[in-house]
Amino acid sequence: MQHFLDIDRTDPAALRAMIDSARAMKTARHGRPKGAPDDDQPLAGHMVALIFEKPSTRTRVSFDVGVRQMGGQTMVLSGADMQLGHGETIADTARVLSRYVDLIMIRTFEEQTLLEMAEYASVPVINGLTNRSHPCQIMADIMTYEEHRGPIAGRRVVWSGDGNNVCASFIQAAARFGFDLTFTGPETLDPDPAIVAAARAGGARITIERDPMKAVAGADLVVTDTWVSMHDPQSARERRHNQLRGYQVNEALMARARPDALFMHCLPAHRDDEATSAVMDGPHSVIWDEAENRLHAQKAVLRWCLGT
Ligand code: CP
Ligand code: NVA
Repeated sequence: MQHFLDIDRTDPAALRAMIDSARAMKTARHGRPKGAPDDDQPLAGHMVALIFEKPSTRTRVSFDVGVRQMGGQTMVLSGADMQLGHGETIADTARVLSRYVDLIMIRTFEEQTLLEMAEYASVPVINGLTNRSHPCQIMADIMTYEEHRGPIAGRRVVWSGDGNNVCASFIQAAARFGFDLTFTGPETLDPDPAIVAAARAGGARITIERDPMKAVAGADLVVTDTWVSMHDPQSARERRHNQLRGYQVNEALMARARPDALFMHCLPAHRDDEATSAVMDGPHSVIWDEAENRLHAQKAVLRWCLGT
């Protein structure tokens, strides 16, 4: 049994094997209806709980569909409707759910909640996003880069905007997959220095560059995300927009990247805030493949966790 809690808590060889397995599973399904079962049914007889303490479209649907394609069953649970939302501890919830289901995926606020779930569950736990990280997203992003452009090792990735949870997972991935990462954004929204330091200690070249035009020069991949995340207070909205306006990914910024650079956004996007529609719908953008690949990448994560 293995938990999938973070990119930097997972062995590099296992991460690579999951990306390769995801690509093979995607190829094997080519052209089939979404609801058609996979030829092999590695999750047959397995029950998976999908717990959401925050909203979700992609994570919810892609996990649900992925489990079903592999022959398993799911139950989608809202944290607010569980006793968890009314004072039952995460440890007790983990112990109880482990008696009913074979795997728990949880999207929550504090990382501590995820870690406690993993500590007290006797089944694998998958991180479906916390305030701190979003490893499933980055597995899909690596897969997407490589299916379009080949190995990501040695490439230059630029993150423009808020140094948030998705950015943190990208920084961790730089160390695991061997690419360079430049963060460009205002100092007040820098990524967690501990995550940057750990990635550097793991051999990654992480650069912080305040000038977005300089940062993006020669980039192979430009990535951004919402300026206000689900855990951020809405009262921060106006201030953040003022701080981040200069880091919008628009055509002028993309023109500084390599001609064959890709653009990614985990979605949901606020069009014409963090990225313009011209970029999102333009020739560099692979955002719909990126969203699709959540499905394939997470199927590989599920199989790795369950050893199936
Ligand atoms: N990218 C992502 O995790 O999207 P959802 O919030 O819709 O799950
Ligand atoms: N940073 C965003 C990602 C959403 C998938 C958030 O946490 O709200």
